[in-house]
Amino acid sequence: LELDAVARIGAAADLSALEGLRVEFLGKQGSVSALLKTLGGMSPDERQSQGPLINGLRQSVSDAITARKAALEAAELEAKLAGETIDLTLPAPDSARGSVHPVSQVMDELAEIFADMGFAVATGPEIEDDWRNFTALNIPETHPARAMHDTFYFPDEKRAGPAAGPGEGGRMLLRTHTSPVQIRTMTAQEPPIRIIAPGRVYRSDSDATHTPMFHQIEGLVIDKGINLGHLKWTLETFLRAFFERDDVVLRLRPSYFPFTEPSVEVDVGYTVIKGKRVIGGSEGWMEVLGSGMVNRKVIEACGLDPDEWQGFAFGTGVDRLAMLKYGMDDLRAFFDGDIRWLRHYGFAA
Ligand code: PHE
Repeated sequence: LELDAVARIGAAADLSALEGLRVEFLGKQGSVSALLKTLGGMSPDERQSQGPLINGLRQSVSDAITARKAALEAAELEAKLAGETIDLTLPAPDSARGSVHPVSQVMDELAEIFADMGFAVATGPEIEDDWRNFTALNIPETHPARAMHDTFYFPDEKRAGPAAGPGEGGRMLLRTHTSPVQIRTMTAQEPPIRIIAPGRVYRSDSDATHTPMFHQIEGLVIDKGINLGHLKWTLETFLRAFFERDDVVLRLRPSYFPFTEPSVEVDVGYTVIKGKRVIGGSEGWMEVLGSGMVNRKVIEACGLDPDEWQGFAFGTGVDRLAMLKYGMDDLRAFFDGDIRWLRHYGFAA
């Protein structure tokens, strides 16, 4: 039995065949187990002579199984490794690479252009309070500009009305523009101030040129003796650098914003080439931003003396600037995450 068993174990083709043999010999009903049970019924003499033989048999069957098991496992590993060999001389497969989104790209470009003009980057929260988004910017409760902003408010009974001053409650909302960062900056640091504030803003509006979330960049300068000429020079320098053309022409139109006085809307000139509008020249005009001299009421609301400090502010849509520079025509596609769209405009490989 011993030779037969050891031979069959040594020939077991795989782990499951080996397990079958283990059960056949050493299992509860196994042949070796049956022999072991006969020891109980033997006389002491018989047991003395048969005991070591039977136990030896069990030991060698068990050793054979352990040895075969190790051999089969080693062979299996060997085969697996052989199947996974890598040929290091083959060229590496291409892996997908991420790329910069046009909105991020434009924000980086703007931060760089303004850094050269001495502007720091400031930020504020997207969840803003009523006072900073409206009241401090000279947009009181009844002002029609509030309705024009299509504001997303947070439902909160305790903070129902508009706030008369900072920290006096007031509704929380998703900021409708980056202008509250003007307030945050003026109440947090001493002038002179020169900042830009890029970020997300929200309005309940959606069509080919409007999305409920979009991006703006705010600019604010507060110093002594600042006038409209400084504003015009800054905008001209920035737009020429951004569009990478010296023939960018600006047109300033009188406008109205509660937080600037006077207010100007800025158009940039374009030329039509093969049916496409190209920035530069003055064949036609496109509105690109809102701006003006900071209203003295806003400077006062921030605790500064408007007779000592003046400044200008501007705000423009980052997505819109990206569309004009890179030729996209549907704003909604910016936020679809379709890699074919990014590829089409050269933003992904
Ligand atoms: N906050 C204005 C808007 O969202 C833009 C603006 C900013 C106008 C600063 C003037 C000065 O339309």
